[in-house]
Amino acid sequence: MRILVVGPTGRTGSHVIDALRGRDPDADIRGLCRYPQEPARAIETVPGNLDTGSAKARAIETVPGNLDTGTSRKRAIETVPGNLDTGSARARAIETVPGNLDTGSGKKKRAVELVVDPLEGSIAMSRAIETVPGNLDTGTRRAHSITCLTGDLENPADRARAVEGIDVVIHYAPAFHPREAAMGTGMIDAAVAAGVSRFIYVSALHAQVTSVPGHAAKLAVEAYLAESGLQWTVLRPQTYMQNIDVAAVLEAGALDLPFALTTRQGYLDMADLADVVAKVASEDGHALATYDLASDEALSTAEIAALVTTVSGRSVTAGELPVAQLVAGLEAAGPAFAYVADAVTRLNAWQARSGGRGNPGALRWLLGREPASFEDYVRRSLTE
Ligand SMILES: NC(=O)c1ccc[n+]([C@@H]2O[C@H](COP(=O)([O-])OP(=O)(O)OC[C@H]3O[C@@H](n4cnc5c(N)ncnc54)[C@H](OP(=O)(O)O)[C@@H]3O)[C@@H](O)[C@H]2O)c1
Repeated sequence: MRILVVGPTGRTGSHVIDALRGRDPDADIRGLCRYPQEPARAIETVPGNLDTGSAKARAIETVPGNLDTGTSRKRAIETVPGNLDTGSARARAIETVPGNLDTGSGKKKRAVELVVDPLEGSIAMSRAIETVPGNLDTGTRRAHSITCLTGDLENPADRARAVEGIDVVIHYAPAFHPREAAMGTGMIDAAVAAGVSRFIYVSALHAQVTSVPGHAAKLAVEAYLAESGLQWTVLRPQTYMQNIDVAAVLEAGALDLPFALTTRQGYLDMADLADVVAKVASEDGHALATYDLASDEALSTAEIAALVTTVSGRSVTAGELPVAQLVAGLEAAGPAFAYVADAVTRLNAWQARSGGRGNPGALRWLLGREPASFEDYVRRSLTE
């Protein structure tokens, strides 16, 4: 069985590769992304005050310059105005720095690491990826390689190349991308044309809440998939625990989230999501199913800060990040970023209203165990 993991360098993709390897160390995995040399970063909530001075750091800052040479890497989100689609590897739309990557704790653990493919010279545009399930810093590596095609989800030819000879496609969209629906429907078209037997789509919990632009896009992809004739499975995960970077929280000594301090939010461990993806990719019986993936735990900012304090033994304060700071500067950078600002704001508003809660039954059934608790996640983060 040959499996395509879209976005192998992303948070979802790297967790999924670990889980697939956990089930079958010899699984035949191919990845598709634009810049396989770089671990991807997503937009995340910034826990704490990242500024070293007395002024409160802005959550998002527009940096009209070269991300390579600048020194502004202590910012939450750096945006690069211009044409982000056609540039080199540096033309990344949005870069999130969860904490201070330059001077911080040295916790640069990645689930996916690149190694040079000896065949690179003969296979154009392809690289090998070594998956390292665990801490890259420990030096205990398991050398499982996947082939990674360098390509763009927006390019039909790249999509066709990516699905060639593939049995199972695992697709998810880059976060807050204005054209994520076209990427999804394009991948479905490519999968149908290539005779792919199984298509797994990672959507989002309550995608039917179409006031959130990312949800509306996902719902459109789900609808297209339902009529594709493919053997599909839709997974709708809750907000990820990994949005809160425990190392960065401890470094800042603060957890500031864009919610009222006592508003409780539901969270899902990405490792649990990945276990479910690997299960439905490997086992029969999940075709034409849509599963909500949610834990039944919901915690407020104050409760998470207290939990991190208790587990780590280091004091963490809880604060409310003003929503305006979450998207400050984005609109000025162009149409794509205006979309991102709107998508981030509406998602946050929905989360604040609903708590992003879901029913945990399907997750518990699929895992065959209890979902990870936030405390499990914090403890694991401290040992990584
Ligand atoms: N954060 C949450 O709590 C949450 C909860 C539920 C659902 N979700 C959904 O999860 C998704 C984001 O997942 P994530 O955080 O794992 O994403 P991520 O870390 O940003 O990873 C995105 C991956 O896609 C690749 N990619 C981006 N643009 C591409 C393009 N044009 N062509 C080919 N590959 C491309 C990236 O690599 P390159 O940049 O090298 O191309 C990277 O490997 C979103 O759809 C979001 O709505 C998030």
